This record gives sequence, structure tokens and C-alpha cells, in this order.
Amino acid sequence: MLHIKDINHVVYRHADLDLLERFLLDFGLTVCHRSKHRLYLRGTGPLPYVYIAEHADTPALGAIAFAVESFADLQFAERLPGASTIQALEHPGGGHVVALQDPCGRRIELVQGIEPVQALTQRSALVLNSAVEKRRFGDVQRPGKGPAQVMRLGHVAIGVADMPSMIAWYRNVLGMLPSDLIVEGDEQGCPSAAFLRLNRGSQWTDHHTIALFQASRDVVHHASFEVQDFDAQCLGHEWMDDQGWTPFWGVGRHVLGSQIFDYWRDPSGNLIEHFTDGDLFNHASPMNCTQACDSSLYQWGPPMSVEYFLGGSDESETVAPRSLAERQRRSR
Ligand SMILES: [Fe+2]
Repeated sequence: MLHIKDINHVVYRHADLDLLERFLLDFGLTVCHRSKHRLYLRGTGPLPYVYIAEHADTPALGAIAFAVESFADLQFAERLPGASTIQALEHPGGGHVVALQDPCGRRIELVQGIEPVQALTQRSALVLNSAVEKRRFGDVQRPGKGPAQVMRLGHVAIGVADMPSMIAWYRNVLGMLPSDLIVEGDEQGCPSAAFLRLNRGSQWTDHHTIALFQASRDVVHHASFEVQDFDAQCLGHEWMDDQGWTPFWGVGRHVLGSQIFDYWRDPSGNLIEHFTDGDLFNHASPMNCTQACDSSLYQWGPPMSVEYFLGGSDESETVAPRSLAERQRRSR
């Protein structure tokens, strides 16, 4: 069995790397390395990169990469159906990779041995005084204006045409556990959405690392990056706004996973999210099923646009829950 440690990075292809660089710097990532056709961006954490942007005429999500615990995991992985042999990673920090394909043909990379880098200085999360519990005495709140400081990649969401086989692959091959399913009627075997987390035993891990949304064909939906607190998210939103980027949806709070969210469209049309204050589950956390309804996606925030169901750069695509997308369209 594979031991997945965490999601490591995403690879996106873009036509205009200069414009994308401006966007991602305002989003809160830091350029750590560049080559003729690639841009490597990091968060404040110890990974040398969490986002690789490759130059290509057609925008696309090129790969989702997960870190495995040990080289033995790569040796196990290269024996899986359709897997590559173990290859040296030709990116900053070195390491090795085995490439797989999930059932929809998306490239999934398993990486190991990437040399960590020194974490960047980051503002500490604010100490908050609630009405019933005071925790800050004699000190003030001055988080300061500027881009959000992205710490790490948290999850990727994709639209999938064949939900049952995709859930089975992420569970059986990558060992993920379902945290929440959105179902319509009794369709538990074929939910409209599935939120899957890593299996880290008794360790706490994000509510979801992969989210699958039912779609008429396979399409990228969004990648999501964690910031340290609510103020970072709001100040980051204001910064993006001030730089002239167009807000997509947020700031608000999701239901499944509870994250405070803020979505933007990058210059290629992909959705990208800041999140903070997400739920943590472990191996003992039960799976929950929620009926698709208007309130299953967010607890508060600006009204959700039907465009949320359009996913990534292909605007002809619609992702689930279908009934919600249709209801949103009718209410326009
Ligand atoms: Fe998300």
C-alpha cells in the first residue's frame, strides 16, 4: 500500500507566463526559480515549490503531485498498472518521481526525496479576543496590508465524467478516505461530489485533499492554497482587488470542510482559491452524506454565481451538483 504524506505541488500550463507571474505574486506565492519555459513558485513552507507553471499554447492542468513517505513507496508505485519507472526529478531540490494516470488520464505524480528549503518569515496567526474568551492582553492587531502569504497547497478539485471509477481509484490506489459525499436522492454509489482526504492514521489531516465533482467530461476545477488566518484572507482579497484582478467568489465559509474560501480566476481562466480554518479529520472520522441543496456549498458569503459550476478554463463545461447548477441557471 502507498503511504501518501501530503499533496506536494501542481503543474499548470499557461500561454503567458509573465502575466501569470504578476497574478501569482499578488495571490501570495513567491518565485523561487525560473527556466526558459518554467516558473517555480513556493509558499512560506519548506517545499522549494508548490506550483510549477509551464509555457504552452493551450492552458491545462498538467499534473497533480503527491509526496510519498519513502523511496520504497516509489518502488511499490512503479509496479502499478500504467506506472512509469522511477525517474530523477529535474526540478529545484532534486528527488525522484513515478508518474501514474488516474482513470480519466490525468497525470498523477508521486514524488520523494525533494530537498526542503528554509521556511520564509511569516506573520504569526493573530490571537483573537472573542466575546466570551479573551486571549490577547495589552497587545494590538496590526496585520498590515499586502498580498496574502500563501503557506502551502491544500487541495485540488476536478470535474470528472466517471465518478464511481475515479472514487475507486483514489481510494484503492492512493489510499484516500471519503470525508463527505454530496448525493442526489439515493445515489450514494455515484455522488455528485466526493471530498477525499489522505489516510494518515491517527494523525489529523485536511478534510479533503482531492475533491471530485460530477461533470459531463473531465475538467480541472480549482487548486487551493492555505493562508494563516482570516485577516490574511481578507487583506489578500483587498490586495488582489487593488491590483485590478477580478474577484470570482468570496470571502465566505464552505459547509463541507468548513474552510473560509476566496476564489479568483487566473489569467488563463483557471479557478484558484485561498483558504483558511479548514476541518481536520483522521482515520476515525466518519464519512458523511449530504443531500444536494442550495445550502450544501456555503454557510455565508456573497451569492454564489452559476459560473462556480463552470469550473476551469473551459467555460462550456458544467460541474456538479447538477441540480444546483440547473437551479442557479433558472433563477438568473
Ligand atoms: Fe476548494
